[in-house]
Amino acid sequence: MSDLLVSRAPTIEAEIRVPGDKSMSHRAVLLSAISNGTCVVRGFLPSQDCQCTVNAMREFGVAIEQPEETTLVIHGQRGDFRPPAQAIDCGNSGTLMRLLCGLAAAQPFETRLVGDASLSSRPMRRVIEPLTRMGASIEASGTNGAAPLVIRGNRLSPIRYELPVASAQVKSAILLAALRASGKTTVIEPFPTRDHTERMMSYFLVQSQREKLGQGFAISLYGDQVPESRDFTVPGDISSAAFWLVAAAAQEDSDLLVRDVGLNKTRTGILSVLLRMGARVREVIEDCDQVEPRGEVRIQGGRLRGTIIAGDEVPNVIDEIPILAVAGALAQGKTVICDAKELRVKETDRLAAIATNLTAMGVEVVELDDGLEIYGGTPLVGARVKSYGDHRIAMAFAIAGMFASNETVIEDTDCIATSYPKFAKQLQRFLTPDENPPTHVFNPAEALAKN
Ligand code: S3P
Repeated sequence: MSDLLVSRAPTIEAEIRVPGDKSMSHRAVLLSAISNGTCVVRGFLPSQDCQCTVNAMREFGVAIEQPEETTLVIHGQRGDFRPPAQAIDCGNSGTLMRLLCGLAAAQPFETRLVGDASLSSRPMRRVIEPLTRMGASIEASGTNGAAPLVIRGNRLSPIRYELPVASAQVKSAILLAALRASGKTTVIEPFPTRDHTERMMSYFLVQSQREKLGQGFAISLYGDQVPESRDFTVPGDISSAAFWLVAAAAQEDSDLLVRDVGLNKTRTGILSVLLRMGARVREVIEDCDQVEPRGEVRIQGGRLRGTIIAGDEVPNVIDEIPILAVAGALAQGKTVICDAKELRVKETDRLAAIATNLTAMGVEVVELDDGLEIYGGTPLVGARVKSYGDHRIAMAFAIAGMFASNETVIEDTDCIATSYPKFAKQLQRFLTPDENPPTHVFNPAEALAKN
């Protein structure tokens, strides 16, 4: 279990790329695996979570070649899987376990799903309930309806289902199951959540419908559809870029350009928050030909001020709250995060983890039932903090360490490999830019002017 040591960083002036989007990498593998032919996925995120998805599909009998770390050739099986010889290990990935429930629910055999200690404590009733209504049988042998899970698939019936929590994972599990159900399934989400499944399904020529309903959407699709095989290139992950965006935003004179990053509106809430906090942000969408907008983000730092993050903005920044809490600590004044109770059931209880670690670094924080109040603007003090086995907590506090007066040690950072295996290398480039000169001269203004 390795620790990460971080000290105060110089001004950031750089142009970077980040690894492939995690949500899209999972979905590209799953949809390709159930498609009717061979699909090439490029820009795949070769992280532990996504590699578990590849292994899971192989367990189901899908042939997958990986000629390069970030390229997969997937031979779709039209969703007719082979019974797995052993339990499928979902590692740390809630997305994989929940989406797999949707796929396994329609298979005429038994599938066992297991995960690591963190995943085995996360709520699974939210997928078990709707999939059971559709006709699957799912047994959870962990505490409080958690993994290990045993799924006995069945011929599924369609449902109309309103999500009790705004969760893209639950929505996606139902939509995947609905592809093999006998009629029209409708999922209603109270607030918009990331819509990669819907977009990717339509790219794979699945017929579906999306209607505005209240503040959210009703998504419907007819069953007995097999996705058409397509190639897909995954853009960079805005949730990984988020760490560097905050590092640049909170430092006057910083100037950072992130290239080829996903700019789907359901994911870019962090840009609006940083703009509101006083950073200069420019977003250029360059391409949308594969249904997912992608482009560049340029961010220039300034004196940040506190803000409020609440309501329907929360699903849009759900994975960025740890790093936005760090931004709040670096800003002048009070930052309030509320309506974010879901953070208590992520890879760890993120509200508790953030509050403990910020307090250790000398920040005044009040932990609310569904959020945090952060009193920013006092200098951060380097400290020894824990990752709690959570990749986003580890990375968020590495960024906090870049602003602290003396050394910060983040304990147990192996978890970072679940989403950003090369994070420490990129961090090192920012900490010691003189030893890591860029391979070409950076000129963000010129880069953006080209568009
Ligand atoms: C994800 C959805 C979100 C997010 C997670 C990835 C996805 O979870 O936090 O990191 O890929 O669908 P919820 O659906 O539980 O909100």
